[in-house]
Amino acid sequence: MKKARKRNMYILYNGFRIPNGYSVENLISAIDYKVQPGEIFIATYPKCGTTWAQHIVWLLRSKGLPLSPDQKMSRMIPQLEEFGKEGLEGLEVPRIIKTHLPYSMSPHHPEAKYIYIARNPFDCLVSFYHHTKGFPAYYDFADGTFDEYFEYFIEGEVDFGDYFDNLLSWYAHREDNNLLFLTYESMKKNIKEAVIRIAEFLGGEYDKNAKNKDILNNVLLHSSFEYMSKDQSRWSSERSFNIPFIRKGWVGDWKNYFSEAQKKRLADKFKIKTKGTELHKLWAGIIPD
Ligand code: PPS
Repeated sequence: MKKARKRNMYILYNGFRIPNGYSVENLISAIDYKVQPGEIFIATYPKCGTTWAQHIVWLLRSKGLPLSPDQKMSRMIPQLEEFGKEGLEGLEVPRIIKTHLPYSMSPHHPEAKYIYIARNPFDCLVSFYHHTKGFPAYYDFADGTFDEYFEYFIEGEVDFGDYFDNLLSWYAHREDNNLLFLTYESMKKNIKEAVIRIAEFLGGEYDKNAKNKDILNNVLLHSSFEYMSKDQSRWSSERSFNIPFIRKGWVGDWKNYFSEAQKKRLADKFKIKTKGTELHKLWAGIIPD
């Protein structure tokens, strides 16, 4: 029989889950936020390459200078629903903002820019499993198993809601002029191309900086997994945790975790949820048919 948990793993607001340690007040503040023209949003479902994209955008603006060990990514590019609009005060403008909200809950402005990073659900699940185990004071899941987490994820009973709801909501806007839709896997395959696409999409100083060979080389160097896995306190949450935030960075790590039955169940869910879209083409050969 399944052991009852000591307490809820999440805060539930109108059917939407946010992690313990966040507040409904800040979530509402995020939904109501009046976006300013020129602001840049990095939007993702959790564990899909947010921090990587945040640092790339940061590096493009700082001419390749990485975040220093005493700077915190969570303060320089804050997550809107974690800190609310007060969390954006004092930031250099135009602001760069992180969000894990689905499109319908995210605030929008036609003159703001949105970079969405999608990652295949199999590797996302594995990464989210480690994350959930790694914040014992918030999720109460330190002794949780992969099989247990699989059930939460496939039912969409995790923080920031169902993976597919988030993905589909942003995917529907992939052709919008102010949205750049990229995948984690394409970044892994050719990071230079991805960085140039981001710079061209953002335009202005971002594009100009990326056209400088030395700056571009520094952006690539400082956004690499090898570099980012050093001094990890820069990227990690201010909530206490016990796993490396920049963990493994693999495409296909899911094969080390999924049983045959789990593989089939998530593949079936993928098929049902993404029917009528071209999403299956994004991860051909990476996830099961
Ligand atoms: S969070 O908590 O939602 O903001 O997490 P997020 O940053 O979206 O995702 C964390 C995963 O991204 C990997 N990562 C990277 N991969 C390749 N290169 C770089 N530079 C990089 N930076 C972060 C990180 O390792 C997590 O994936 P897993 O599979 O757990 O390793």
